[in-house]
Amino acid sequence: MVTNITLALSKGRILDETRPLLADMGIELVDDPGSSRKLILDTNRPDIKVVIVRATDTPTYVQYGAADLGVVGKDVLLEHGGEGLYEPLDLGIARCRLMVAGFPHTSPAVPQRRPRVATKYINVARRHFAARGIQAEVIKLYGSMELAPLVGLADYIVDVVDTGKTLRANGLLPLEHIADISSRLIVNKAAMKMKHAALRALIAAFACALQPESCR
Ligand code: ATP
Ligand code: PRP
Repeated sequence: MVTNITLALSKGRILDETRPLLADMGIELVDDPGSSRKLILDTNRPDIKVVIVRATDTPTYVQYGAADLGVVGKDVLLEHGGEGLYEPLDLGIARCRLMVAGFPHTSPAVPQRRPRVATKYINVARRHFAARGIQAEVIKLYGSMELAPLVGLADYIVDVVDTGKTLRANGLLPLEHIADISSRLIVNKAAMKMKHAALRALIAAFACALQPESCR
């Protein structure tokens, strides 16, 4: 009996960096995600489909079983929480750091008043500042976080940093490290029971694509 599997991926760096792993596993997309407007993509494996979702929505699709598994940044997972999800593999792709950033002269260690923090990671930011005894006022943004300190919206931002170029270009500095980030394979807990053999095989294939020497 064939078990159908749905994998959730987001366009951009996660799709781009997951595709070579899938190729090593013998799984190729039939539709070109660059030109296709389709959101459910066929692969060369009739039992495996890929659904294209927003990066921040990946845990939601997998948690509710709309996708059996997905690839998502640890930053998104820290913000979302891991309810209903297993996280069996660190795929080591889309590496970056989750940081507090701001102007060079601002130090979160000595706030003059209740600091304002602009971020799309509101839960992570609240937890981070609260753990340091600071009750930050956290402002939700959906992008261009680096703008917030420049126009007086916030004292700090919490965002991912890779090369640091975006911060530097805007006169900002990384101030505090929150977490090292890479993308994780996540699996729906119920699907892991119901589709155990198929999902185990796929997870093992991902592991082999990451470390071929351990599978020879
Ligand atoms: P959404 O559109 O849903 O807000 P997004 O714009 O953050 O998502 P991407 O930019 O594709 O989506 O980022 C996907 C993941 O890649 C992030 O969750 C993070 O883990 C990682 N990432 C983000 N920016 C960088 C970067 N500059 N360098 C390396 N990895 C990054
Ligand atoms: C992310 C993030 C920062 C930037 C950090 O944005 O929100 O703005 O990357 O990367 P850097 O430290 O290398 O400058 P986004 O994914 O929108 O931008 P990108 O695709 O240009 O990296």
